[in-house]
Amino acid sequence: MSLTVILVNVPTLAFRVIYHILLAAYRYVVPKPERSVDGYSVLITGAGGGIGSHLAKEWSFRGANVALVDINMATLKETAKQVSKSSNVKVKTYQCDITNRERVAALAADVRRDFGDIDVLVNNAGVLWGKAIECITEADVRKTMDVNLLSQFWMLDEFLPAMRKRNSGIVINVASAAGKVGVPMCADYCASKFGVVGLGESLKEELRQSQCSGVRIITVCPIFVNTGMTQSINGGQTKIVSRFEKLLEADEVASRIVQGALRDETTIYIPRRLCLLEILGSVLPQGALDALRDFLELKFAPATVSALQSADDNKKEH
Ligand SMILES: NC(=O)c1ccc[n+]([C@@H]2O[C@H](COP(=O)([O-])OP(=O)(O)OC[C@H]3O[C@@H](n4cnc5c(N)ncnc54)[C@H](O)[C@@H]3O)[C@@H](O)[C@H]2O)c1
Repeated sequence: MSLTVILVNVPTLAFRVIYHILLAAYRYVVPKPERSVDGYSVLITGAGGGIGSHLAKEWSFRGANVALVDINMATLKETAKQVSKSSNVKVKTYQCDITNRERVAALAADVRRDFGDIDVLVNNAGVLWGKAIECITEADVRKTMDVNLLSQFWMLDEFLPAMRKRNSGIVINVASAAGKVGVPMCADYCASKFGVVGLGESLKEELRQSQCSGVRIITVCPIFVNTGMTQSINGGQTKIVSRFEKLLEADEVASRIVQGALRDETTIYIPRRLCLLEILGSVLPQGALDALRDFLELKFAPATVSALQSADDNKKEH
């Protein structure tokens, strides 16, 4: 290391690190005020379901026009009806299987025709089977990766270039707490969500290094939420239980996501204390982590392979 590096670069580094730690601590206590999104165009995938439909309400409530995307047109129409009832913004629905690259390209053309360039892309659609590794089929794994992870690449491919060109835009990738810590009965789901976290981290750095600071990448990590996703695990036979945490409600999660995005947060943990788990996960030895997990008692019930296998067999028979 040269003397110049020691005398100039190291103190600069120390100053920047300390400044940002203090700023983050201050922002934890006093969050930034929300910026206005009146007239923005926001595209939300999975808008027919739990969190997605509440996200549509949250953005429209703040005056943003919404392009709502889902594979299920019936539930999507229901979301659009509720949004139109409570606001005067522009609302359009698009039925699309976002795992299909060509359909995503056609969707993007339709959205650009109706809205022009979008300001906010919310990659929210997702699936969860909640099966033990022995019960997950090849089709399950491929579907999980296609919907939860690969679709985010296809959506980014269509909408990120225009944001980059304008050096303006927000991308919100909905991951999960299961994208930060391992959760039992969720090997495929966790792998896809760790992928979403990695995608966001890489993209953030890529944009930063290309001086594209006007485009913000946000990763969202909620614990389990009371939606169709968690209510239908193994046909509703398996429940997520925890000694301390009850399932969050979709409306509070959506509200926190939009608030966090508009206050320039980059990783949105819901609840906020979840970030402690991540820190502990990277510093504690395995035995201590196991003790912490035993204490928290987060599990899927019934969780035995045989119980899930019989639930699976039942499903196949009917
Ligand atoms: N529910 C939870 O416990 C929880 C926790 C953390 C993160 N998340 C994440 O939040 C997001 C939303 O989950 P949710 O709980 O609202 O689920 P949900 O099942 O209520 O809604 C998901 C929506 O995605 C749509 N979808 C599924 N496959 C699609 C496809 N191929 N093309 C287009 N749309 C498709 C569904 O039709 C549904 O409307 C997901 O990414 C999920 O992984 C959920």
